[in-house]
Amino acid sequence: MPELNWDDVQNHLTGLVPPRLPILAEMEREAEATDFPILGPAAGYACYQFARLMGARRVFEMGSGFGYSTAWFARAVHENGGGEVHHVVWDQELSDRAKVSLAQLGYETAIHYHCAEAIETLKAAEGPFDLIFNDIDKEAYPEALPIIRSKLRIGGLLIVDNLLWDGKIFDPGDKSPATAAIQELTRKIHADAGWIAHILPIRDGLLTALRVK
Ligand SMILES: C[S@@+](CC[C@H](N)C(=O)[O-])C[C@H]1O[C@@H](n2cnc3c(N)ncnc32)[C@H](O)[C@@H]1O
Repeated sequence: MPELNWDDVQNHLTGLVPPRLPILAEMEREAEATDFPILGPAAGYACYQFARLMGARRVFEMGSGFGYSTAWFARAVHENGGGEVHHVVWDQELSDRAKVSLAQLGYETAIHYHCAEAIETLKAAEGPFDLIFNDIDKEAYPEALPIIRSKLRIGGLLIVDNLLWDGKIFDPGDKSPATAAIQELTRKIHADAGWIAHILPIRDGLLTALRVK
């Protein structure tokens, strides 16, 4: 049996994603050209699948960048019959770019733009949400968890990106705050009976956690 190669697996998963709308493909090219960390096609398509599967109509995103991940959620909500997706990022330039790109998708889904800190914005938002996606600075993952829980309905889904953190979580010598925070979130959410959690090894590791209590 040949050993599985990580890059082969990831390229295979990405290659299986159906062709994207031109605007999404353009966003992927832009991310590649500027080295901007987006979810990418395979993880984006998985997020879209989960949101479709659960019929999500209210989605809150934390750390939305220029709107690539938002586009996948907006498509799902549109196909689920319409609803709302909250785009939250603290960079005005990224928020403005997202508005331009996402307007071109023409989905009948209200996208609410917040140019602000994501945890504070979620605290102030009216819940409950069907799905919350977290992709903010990794150091803040543990402190975001109780707020997320309070705003997610029971039966709702939390998705968090970068749980594998480019393999740094396996390095005992890595004492950086971001790595420690990802390890802390991983421990906490898997030990808590209020969540059914799982890390999918798509790209940089996608945590999916169903709120059951
Ligand atoms: C990883 S990128 C977003 C990628 C996006 N989710 C995608 O896949 O297309 C994270 C973005 O969120 C911003 N960000 C990080 N922490 C934040 C926070 N606490 N509140 C608001 N924005 C934050 C970063 O500046 C960056 O623009």
